Amino acid sequence: MTPPAAASPLAVLPRELSGDAVIARRTSELVGSTPLLELVRTGSGTRLLLKLEQLNPTGSCKVRMARQMVLEAEADGRLRPGGRIVEPTSGNTGLGLALVALERGYRFTAIVDRHAAKDKLRAMEAMGAELVVVEADPTAGPSSIERRRVAAQIAAETGAFHPDQHNNPGNANGYGDLADELIDQLGTFDVLVAALGTGGSLCGTVRGLRSRGVMAQSVAVEPRGSIVFGGEPGVYHQTGAGSPAGFPIGCNVDRDVIDIDHRVGDGDAFATARVVARRTGLLLGGTTGGAIHVALRHLVLWPAGSTVVVLCNDAGEKYLDSVYDDDWLAARGVLDEPAHRRVRRWLNAYDESVRVADDDRASRRSEMGGLTA
Ligand SMILES: Cc1ncc(COP(=O)(O)O)c(C=O)c1O
Repeated sequence: MTPPAAASPLAVLPRELSGDAVIARRTSELVGSTPLLELVRTGSGTRLLLKLEQLNPTGSCKVRMARQMVLEAEADGRLRPGGRIVEPTSGNTGLGLALVALERGYRFTAIVDRHAAKDKLRAMEAMGAELVVVEADPTAGPSSIERRRVAAQIAAETGAFHPDQHNNPGNANGYGDLADELIDQLGTFDVLVAALGTGGSLCGTVRGLRSRGVMAQSVAVEPRGSIVFGGEPGVYHQTGAGSPAGFPIGCNVDRDVIDIDHRVGDGDAFATARVVARRTGLLLGGTTGGAIHVALRHLVLWPAGSTVVVLCNDAGEKYLDSVYDDDWLAARGVLDEPAHRRVRRWLNAYDESVRVADDDRASRRSEMGGLTA
């Protein structure tokens, strides 16, 4: 008779000790729980925190909404087992969809243009996505309208699921967890700043915050040249954010939850990302540079002691050939040395204001000591 197998020592360990609780079985389970980093603070106690969404798998917050749009489409039958997904993308939504598609057994076709960062296109292909490239002048702005037309046409012809991130409520719904994380990390806070494209990440997060009673002011940042808030149309090179002239603004731009909007030029956005890279060792994307630029510019205008959070949409490693390449910037006329100096001056001035406030407090304490001695 075979003796009974000895029980594995792991079988008697509690789940946490056996490690089951912390080892993901699918990459998408690693989405979320991204950390916060303090970029700078002021002498009046205001802090600028970065929510490091580039640390998600695929290097962007957009994987949150890609997963949500697919789960919702599965739930209501718009997406059937083994089906095909087709979506226009500047890259990050596509990377998220490529990940979710490969895990769940779908084909994914991304409609892209040459304006997209090359490494995003390569990464989508590496994950098995099919790319359909809409021809565009690489020195001009994105061809969002044409990408969208081609995606709708392929979906109509093939019956593929076209999530349409600009109008799909699943996009904004995908950021409920992000709001929960911020509340878990900070309790309440004062201002949320984010680059705006479809609107899903900012508006979805703000809706989640407000539904839980956190009334942080929301600040949307679009590239100068984008027309979401009625600015002059023009060329811009910040990829992922903004909408060019003629692009229909989708319902995920929810003006009811956007308190303030700002436009930021490519030179300022890219210079900010580059200065932050030298200061923190973190490479962030150009649109995140734009959002940080707006936050830095306004940091002393918010009440003393405010906590300001910037959503970092994606990682700068995707832009080594563009935002972090002097020649690329110079060729487009957006290598802006004075902008770099301005950002360094802001950061130095805020650091100095903390030293002044600390010295002030120390001398007041010693004066008090002198008075009571
Ligand atoms: C780099 C980058 N920044 C900003 C955005 C804008 O985010 P949202 O579409 O959620 O407004 C995107 C969206 O794709 C993006 O890829």
